[in-house]
Amino acid sequence: MSRLIVVSNRVAVPQAGRAKAAGGLAVAINSALRERGGVWFGWSGHVSETPSLTPEVTTSNNIDYCVTDLSPDDLQEYYHGFANRVLWPLMHYRVDLAEFSRADLSGYMRVNEEFAEHVSRFLKPDDVVWIHDYHLMPLAKFLRERGHRNKIGFFLHIPFPSLEIIQALPHHLEVSAALTQYDLVGVQTENDRENLARYFALLGGREIDGDHLFEFPDRQVRIGAFPVGIETEVFARCARRISRSSFVKEVRESMSGRSLVIGVDRLDYSKGIPERMDAFERFLAANEDWHNRVTYLQITPKSRSEVQEYADMEHQINAKTGQVNGDYGEAIWTPIRYINRSYSRTALAGLYRMADVGLVTPLRDGMNLVAKEYVAAQDPADPGVLILSQFAGAAFELGDGALLVNPHEAEAVAAALKRALEMPLDERRRRHAGMMKIVEENDIHRWAARFLSALSAGDASRQPASLAKKAGSRGGSDASSGGGVSRHISFPAA
Ligand code: UDP
Ligand code: G6P
Repeated sequence: MSRLIVVSNRVAVPQAGRAKAAGGLAVAINSALRERGGVWFGWSGHVSETPSLTPEVTTSNNIDYCVTDLSPDDLQEYYHGFANRVLWPLMHYRVDLAEFSRADLSGYMRVNEEFAEHVSRFLKPDDVVWIHDYHLMPLAKFLRERGHRNKIGFFLHIPFPSLEIIQALPHHLEVSAALTQYDLVGVQTENDRENLARYFALLGGREIDGDHLFEFPDRQVRIGAFPVGIETEVFARCARRISRSSFVKEVRESMSGRSLVIGVDRLDYSKGIPERMDAFERFLAANEDWHNRVTYLQITPKSRSEVQEYADMEHQINAKTGQVNGDYGEAIWTPIRYINRSYSRTALAGLYRMADVGLVTPLRDGMNLVAKEYVAAQDPADPGVLILSQFAGAAFELGDGALLVNPHEAEAVAAALKRALEMPLDERRRRHAGMMKIVEENDIHRWAARFLSALSAGDASRQPASLAKKAGSRGGSDASSGGGVSRHISFPAA
């Protein structure tokens, strides 16, 4: 019975009085781990001058959350610096925003090695290790250097860009080439997988079975697309329940019968929020009959504000909101309600269900869970319409049911808004039913089961949905359920 050890930079430690981190990774891992249990190691979210060698452990619902602080230099070089000023923009195709420095790269490698040192101290030979996201690409390399031969998988939550872009990363061999130290590398879409396959070929990997298994001189690595899902059933139930709450009732009353368009994103340039506001403005300019009949609610928790580009974006959006409200607003109508606080996912479920249109228009996004949550929260008898960027990973799955748009074309997004707001009920139902089926079938449980099954044994990445579900976590006893996981963890003395 192997334990599952999950490692990610962000860890959603349950703690009273502490705001939950808004971000798809924390939401997805938390849902996936909750039913199978395991150990989740990562950053505490705090900084201390001399981080302890013994992680702080909180045990809740079958999960041991183990976290460590970062030093001020770690925070600056690894998190703000290399992860968020180099890898994040670059992998979202914003080479222009990437600011590389050797100091940040060495800080990034140092923290990866420190994380490996921590994990190494409690890792048992038959543990299965699942590492997440761009902060920790070289982690397996440092674990292998410490002699660990465990099954180690990696999942990238953000896009894996084309060869031209990844090669723009100075010293990319030191960072991305370390991906060859995993047994399995998972990405969100087939497009990402093809990009990664080209990169592995560039590194000299030979695809040996036409089945995404690459051979390198020292090892074999499988790659696959594993689109992340949500806890669809739970989320849909939650949306039904909360729609009867006083919170939702009050918001509905405040709308005074107007239609509601909703956007929910961390404050991040990859989300295309100013472009979306331009599109909304264009919609208002072209459709006077919709004035005072529609409200656009944009919920945008602040994110990574210490990074200059994020602070700049904050000013840009504030100015744009003020301008549109100033130009179009009336004493009784504020066209855009722009909010910087973070809402619980329960509250969001209620707001999604109330909204006539979900406006999800990132310029690039690995998946975008908000798009899936919006679909899951709808009333199937009277569902809203999803407007979705063709550059979100979710478009690969939901493209037929959503109104797909190019977020760079304000006119097209404005036209989609009009179409969505005026769409007849039978078309809305048909589109929603198609998307809901997909969101139900490929939920978070199937995502985790498929990845862990492919990592532990053969490759289930191309298994039919019905089979994978049966073999999956709900009572399944094979490797796809993550195995029986012993959740107890003990650390050697520091
Ligand atoms: N979220 C939240 N509260 C908020 C805003 C967002 O809990 O106020 C959650 C949202 O429900 C979703 C996640 O944060 O589950 C965002 O994930 P997504 O994949 O859309 O984007 P990311 O932030 O990971 O880039
Ligand atoms: C995205 C990334 C995650 C990250 C999240 C929130 O979802 O893929 O790795 O945790 O954004 O960002 P933060 O920097 O606050 O962890």
